[in-house]
Amino acid sequence: MLQFATAGESHGQALIAWISGLPAGLRVDLEFINGELHRRQLGYGRGGRQKIEKDRAEALAGIRHGQTIGAPIALRIENRDWANWERAMAVEDREEDRQARRPLTAPRPGHADLAGAIKFNLHDARYILERASARETAARVAIGSLAKLLLREFDCEILSHVVAVGHVRLERQAGWEEIQAVCANLDSPLRCVDRETEARMKQEVDQVLRAGDSVGGIFEVVAHAAPPGLGSHRQWDAKLDGQLARAIMSIQAVKAVEIGAGVTAAGSYGSEVQDEIAYDAERRRFRRPSNRAGGLEGGITNGEDVVVRGYLKPISTLRRGLGTADLVTKESVQAAYERSDVCVVPAGGIAGEAMTALVLAGACLEKFGGDSLGETRRNFEGYMRQVEQF
Ligand SMILES: Cc1cc2nc3c(=O)[nH]c(=O)nc-3n(C[C@H](O)[C@H](O)[C@H](O)COP(=O)(O)O)c2cc1C
Repeated sequence: MLQFATAGESHGQALIAWISGLPAGLRVDLEFINGELHRRQLGYGRGGRQKIEKDRAEALAGIRHGQTIGAPIALRIENRDWANWERAMAVEDREEDRQARRPLTAPRPGHADLAGAIKFNLHDARYILERASARETAARVAIGSLAKLLLREFDCEILSHVVAVGHVRLERQAGWEEIQAVCANLDSPLRCVDRETEARMKQEVDQVLRAGDSVGGIFEVVAHAAPPGLGSHRQWDAKLDGQLARAIMSIQAVKAVEIGAGVTAAGSYGSEVQDEIAYDAERRRFRRPSNRAGGLEGGITNGEDVVVRGYLKPISTLRRGLGTADLVTKESVQAAYERSDVCVVPAGGIAGEAMTALVLAGACLEKFGGDSLGETRRNFEGYMRQVEQF
C-alpha cells in the first residue's frame, strides 16, 4: 500500500515529505522533482514569498545511486525564509527570543486560525497557521513527483491547466496537446490554454491587486492514458472517484471537486450526459467519442483520460482587511495581514497534479503489486495484454 505524509511549518526550518510503498528500481531524477517544485512556485498573483524561496528537494532516505530501493523515501525542502524567522519559530524556549515570537491574536477569517486556536487551546494563532499554510503543498508536490515517475512506467502522464480565475472562464474543453503545450511554456502567466482568456484572467488579478482583494478559480487535472480498471465498485472507499475527490479537496482553499462534467451534468438530461460506447477494432479497445464521465464509471477508470477539477475559493488574506475578534481581549479588531498571494489557481493545479498522481499510483500498486519495478511492470503488461484480448 502506498502511504505518504508531510511535516513542517511554513516558516520553520524545512518541510519533510515521506512516502512508503514504491517498488525498488524506479529511477529518480532529482531535477524532475525540482522542476515540479519550480512549477508550483509560478503563476501571476503570487506574493513576495515566492521571490525568497527557490524550492529544491534533498533526498534523505530510500534512494541509492539514482534508484528507489523499496524502502521509505524521505525528502527535505529547505525554507529559505527560515533565516528571517529563526527566532520567532525557534525550537528551543530561549529567554532572548521571547520578544521575537510574532504572536498572531487577530484570527483571519477563512483561515484555520480561530478553529485551530479553540481546538488546541492556544491564544496565539501562529501555532496553527504555520502548519495550516499551503506552503505544505510543496512537500506534497515533491512526493507527487515520485508518483508521477511511477505512473510514467505505465505510460500515464498527469498535467493541469487553469479553467477559471475569478469571473473569467475558459468556455471550452481543452485538448491534451494544448495542455501539454501550455505546461511546457513556463512563461505562461496563468497556465490557461487560450491566450485571449488568459489575458482577461490576468486583468482580473490586476483588478483585485489594485482593490486589495483576492480571487479564486478552477484548475483541471488530466491523467492522460490512465490504465483502465483502477479503483473498484466493490466498496465505498475503494471507489477511485471518491479517493480523488478527497485528495483534491484536501488542498488548501479547494471547496468543491468535479469529476468530468459533473457540475453541468447535474442540470442536463441523461441523453446529453452519458458517453456512448464504440469499439476501435484497429487498436483493439473500447472508445468513447466524448468523455463527460471524466474517465471514471462506478469508481473504476474506463480507459479515457481521468479529468478532475478543483474549485478554489478566493484567497482568505485580504490587504484591505476584514473584521475579527481578538483571541485574548475579545475586542473587535481588524484581521492580521500576513504577506499573501492574491491568486493561486495555477499553483493549486500543481498540487492537484501531485495529489492525483499519488492516488493513481496507489491504485496502480494495488492492482499490479510488485516489490521491484520489473515485477510491477510485468504484471501491468500482462494485464494490458488481457485488456487487449478482451
Ligand atoms: C498554492 C496555495 C497557496 C496559498 N497561498 C495563500 C496565501 O498566500 N494567503 C492566503 O490567505 N491563503 C493562501 N492559500 C489558501 C489557504 O492556505 C487556505 O485557505 C487556508 O489554509 C484555510 O484552509 P481552507 O481554505 O482549505 O479551509 C493558498 C492555497 C494554495 C493551494
